[in-house]
Amino acid sequence: MRRYHLTTFGCQMNSHDSERIKGMLESLGLGEATSKEEADIVVFNTCTIREKPDTKLSAYLGDAGARKRENPDLVIAVGGCYAEAQQERIFDLYPQVDVAFGPGSIPHLADWVGVGGVGVERGRFGTHEHFAADLPQHRERGAHAWVQVSMGCNSSCSYCIVPAVRGREQSRRPGDIVAEVTQLAADGVREITLLGQNVNSWGRDLAPDIRTEFGELLRACDAVEGIERIRFTSPHPKDFRDPVIAAMAECDAVCEHIHLPVQSGSSRILKAMRRTYTRERYVALVAKLRAAIPDLALGTDVIVGFPGETEEDFRETLEVVEEVRYDSAFTFIYSPRRGTDAAAMADQVPEAVKHERLERLVEVVQRIAAEKNAERVGGVEEVLVEGPSRTDIALLRGRTRRNTTVNFTGSAQAGELVHVVVEGATSTTLRGRIAAAVAA
Ligand code: 5AD
Ligand code: SF4
Repeated sequence: MRRYHLTTFGCQMNSHDSERIKGMLESLGLGEATSKEEADIVVFNTCTIREKPDTKLSAYLGDAGARKRENPDLVIAVGGCYAEAQQERIFDLYPQVDVAFGPGSIPHLADWVGVGGVGVERGRFGTHEHFAADLPQHRERGAHAWVQVSMGCNSSCSYCIVPAVRGREQSRRPGDIVAEVTQLAADGVREITLLGQNVNSWGRDLAPDIRTEFGELLRACDAVEGIERIRFTSPHPKDFRDPVIAAMAECDAVCEHIHLPVQSGSSRILKAMRRTYTRERYVALVAKLRAAIPDLALGTDVIVGFPGETEEDFRETLEVVEEVRYDSAFTFIYSPRRGTDAAAMADQVPEAVKHERLERLVEVVQRIAAEKNAERVGGVEEVLVEGPSRTDIALLRGRTRRNTTVNFTGSAQAGELVHVVVEGATSTTLRGRIAAAVAA
């Protein structure tokens, strides 16, 4: 049997795409190799949101090219967003690449890879536009599943390459989503994460055929027997409407956790980013969410060094971070992406200034996250067990409803819900011991 190895870069959407790529390759008769060295086909599912993944990919493809010189039968396939952004150019940039395909064309992998990986069609770029709803999947976390609700994005944030590579938003039909969730529950899945570039605008493009909105989808998933936890990512602050807030407050399975990208605390920069909300509107939304959903955990994404960002703008970002007190935050240095409006703006911020701002931001983010986790010590958290801890196999690992990772002592099976007494905390994790299993 020929074997594949897949390396994934980028976001959760890409991780989920990778599960589908694996499922597709396995349905074509390929097995999974334990390392790149043992594979007949090496696949890279790429990202191009910032410069770092581009650079990393370049190094990986260099290694793969060297292996191919020793073994010319090795097939190198590049999928995902970087491939889509570069289209045919990828074969000029990296002549060692045999096959390239965009995120929309995973269902057509057989056209390029061939059944059993035999009959690879080299040098052709694959892109398809329609929704890939019913693909085989190879799930990575037993009790958890990603469920894609939409693909593409209709926003036009001036820094972002995603709309260019993933296209206009297309929502999947609610009946198909609920059917998938029901099947997952029957397979033993207890937690789902609904995935979309902007989950809160889900459903709009289905009108007039189907009139619905994301809150209704949350309620429909909440009603599926066996699903104990529902998460979603990511909502755009501009589209967070009352019916979704009400559904979050009323549905038992919907977790008290929202990843709500702020990007900047300066209304002037938010305007240049084309986020279509101001600092005040964002902060007011946070207050409304907190009032409706007790004990809500908030995460965010922040970009520093967007073109034209002054020290004063950056201070406003720090102020918002202090004001909201996020439980977690992903922090990014602005990276110009070819073809986006921001890349062509004057006043690009010098690298040294961007780095200095990132350091200051990370310090504040980590201090607050550590303080917030410390507040949980002495309390009891409901934890969904994921398996042994990554750092110490004597411990178990799981996640709270608020999405904090917990390492703990005691005995339990993956997929079980347990109550854990919290005994310690860092800025990213909690530590504790099992108090009891949660009654079913
Ligand atoms: N530079 C830096 N960060 C970016 N992001 C998106 N585009 C860029 C860019 N050009 C960040 C945003 C987004 C997250 C997924 O990546 O914060 O929410
Ligand atoms: Fe995800 Fe965007 Fe990277 Fe594509 S470019 S993998 S959508 S983060």
